[in-house]
Amino acid sequence: MTDEQLVTAARDAAAASYSPYSRFAVGAALLFDDGAVFTGTNIENASYGLTLCAETVAVAAAMAAGRRGGLMAVAVAGPLDGASGAPITPCGRCRQVLNELAQLGATDPAVLCAGRDGVRRLTLSQLLPEAFGPASLG
Ligand code: THU
Repeated sequence: MTDEQLVTAARDAAAASYSPYSRFAVGAALLFDDGAVFTGTNIENASYGLTLCAETVAVAAAMAAGRRGGLMAVAVAGPLDGASGAPITPCGRCRQVLNELAQLGATDPAVLCAGRDGVRRLTLSQLLPEAFGPASLG
């Protein structure tokens, strides 16, 4: 799967966003070493602080299906309309949640940050250097 296809999967996932409060629809797609893709979208709550981000929902879907590593790439896509149109990067909490799954398989996944105006290709270790994770616990 190409970067472009993974970004498309993230953008498609955002169609199911439940974001009536922020009106900021986010989609995420996770690519695994066997070609499997798991997606997620942000799910807000009337108690605002309970919002689930797209990346966290995607990790939960993958782990609920038994995935424990093999994470090769992540795409996160912000809204195509409104907002600034700039590529969005995963929030701090999502970086840590992604790190758990990545470190279980000792991978450093590419993180494709997509906005209306383009895609930035980073790595999880760039976004979360010196990460604390399962390996830290021995
Ligand atoms: N959001 C995500 O889904 N992922 C991120 O990495 C950043 C923020 C969502 C949370 C909330 O529903 C909306 O974007 C605005 O913050």
